[in-house]
Amino acid sequence: MKLILLITLGIISSLFPFSSVKTTISVNQTYTEKEVAFNILKTKCNSCHTKKKNRIKFTLGNMNSLAPEIESQVFIKKKMPKGRKNQLTQLEEDKLRNWIRTL
Ligand code: HEC
Repeated sequence: MKLILLITLGIISSLFPFSSVKTTISVNQTYTEKEVAFNILKTKCNSCHTKKKNRIKFTLGNMNSLAPEIESQVFIKKKMPKGRKNQLTQLEEDKLRNWIRTL
């Protein structure tokens, strides 16, 4: 039901690109802690992990079960992300912690 509503809104807003429907959608768009964290894993971790064989590729489907290992590598052993130029910002660390806390 929700999906049908979203699709309908999507069609309406694409027909009227400047209509208020579209504005409402973008204003109300919120991301869950998980989506925010996935965005970091995708840009800061997968960028390297997917280049090498046998490395875990983080996805929305596997990240929750990998959380203990991510926490260990990033916050306890501090081995990840590898490479000085790949360091996480304070904000990114906080966002990862926020997600891990929800699990
Ligand atoms: C520049 C490359 C690079 C980046 C960026 C990187 N990793 Fe890794 N990661 C590696 C390598 C290489 C290994 C294999 C173990 C080793 O050599 O220390 C590894 C291993 C791991 C492991 C152990 C499981 C496995 O795949 O072997 C975890 C968990 C992990 N990384 C998490 C992360 C997270 C979370 C980030 C982002 C915050 C990240 N890594 C960013 C290169 C990287």
